[in-house]
Amino acid sequence: MSHQTILVTGGAGYIGSHACVELLQAGFNVAVVDNLGNSKYESLRRVQQITGKTLTFYQADIRDKAALTEIFAKESPSTVMHFAGLKAVGESCEKPLLYYNNNVYGTMILLEVMDESNVRQLVFSSSATVYGQTSLTQYSEDFPLGPINPYGRSKAMIEDILRDLSASDKINPNRSPWKVALLRYFNPIGAHESGLIGEDPNGIPNNLMPYVAQVAIGKLPQLSVFGDDYPTPDGTGIRDYIHVVDLVKGHINAITALNSDAFKDGGCKAYNLGAGKGYSVLEIIAAFESVTGQKINYKISPRRAGDLAEYFANPALAFKELNWKVEKSLNDIVADTWNWQSKNPQGYN
Ligand code: NAD
Ligand code: UFG
Repeated sequence: MSHQTILVTGGAGYIGSHACVELLQAGFNVAVVDNLGNSKYESLRRVQQITGKTLTFYQADIRDKAALTEIFAKESPSTVMHFAGLKAVGESCEKPLLYYNNNVYGTMILLEVMDESNVRQLVFSSSATVYGQTSLTQYSEDFPLGPINPYGRSKAMIEDILRDLSASDKINPNRSPWKVALLRYFNPIGAHESGLIGEDPNGIPNNLMPYVAQVAIGKLPQLSVFGDDYPTPDGTGIRDYIHVVDLVKGHINAITALNSDAFKDGGCKAYNLGAGKGYSVLEIIAAFESVTGQKINYKISPRRAGDLAEYFANPALAFKELNWKVEKSLNDIVADTWNWQSKNPQGYN
């Protein structure tokens, strides 16, 4: 295992940088491909500071086939961890072509290069947003898919492409089979416990946790709670928040599974990565106030378009087949977010 190279697309980003730390600490070689469109090289400098190990960085776009082909030839990775993508739901509604180009077309190019380089092992960043609306609030992998925005559809399209690719193994018996883990993340938040790496959103954050953290340090005046009239115990939205370090550990376990007998004939399988328990917006605010001792100034605002009242993961399959479950509590998540935010009020700047 120690000499396996993992090629990490989007490795300079929020989740990718945390994955690089875990990969290096687990003894893998790491090669990162990132266009730095939504990140800074500083995150990777800090990854190397945390681990005391080095990684190889290529500033390249996954849509650049020639560059990618050269990188694969140099690195001979055993596995690709594919984090590169655009992820803002609102922006995807405004600029769907950008999202389909970057996420779907970008993944197509990556898969072509993987195929041509005989690298057919992939861990893909999917999202709970691929699920359709159901009357149930706890989502299992076999639920019907039905995303409701271009971002979510870009993830579902990529999942379809990967299932088709895996199915094509049967009629291409002379090549090594595709081994694919589709990891459907619930709500990743938190930061590495060192406080050296974390989420560094551009401009005003879209998501709850970075917004709360910026209110707590006084960078933003007030949080808007989007709706308190949902059919939940306190009326605010409920989500399954997962510590980013727990999340990326699930990726290491996925590599182990793909390398095991369970995948010896190939396969493409989806796994929920979530805690299996949800918290409301008001519970998140209360946890933040109690861990940090800071008062969070908030007001109740109208619902945000496209938000569901409540959903959380059924993580049983990941436990059974990846031997994975979350280990960190909500208090750990909040403490690590606060540690990162207070040590780096301007993010990586
Ligand atoms: P991020 O924006 O911090 O990281 C993505 C990285 O990919 C960035 O460093 C960006 O520069 C890079 N990138 C984007 N397009 C690229 C391209 N064409 N070529 C090369 N590099 C490119 O986002 P993140 O939160 O770390 O998310 C990582 C992955 O996880 C994404 O695919 C995202 O859709 C998925 N995901 C995230 C969440 C979440 O809430 N953060 C939830 C579910 C799924
Ligand atoms: N919320 C607020 N105020 C804010 C921001 C959010 O009240 O300023 C509420 C939302 O209404 C929701 C909860 O906090 O009830 C969480 O919202 P986030 O924006 O943090 O997260 P979402 O569940 O909306 O979306 C996240 C990612 C998506 C991903 C989805 C499913 O942002 O990319 O999880 O995985 F698709």
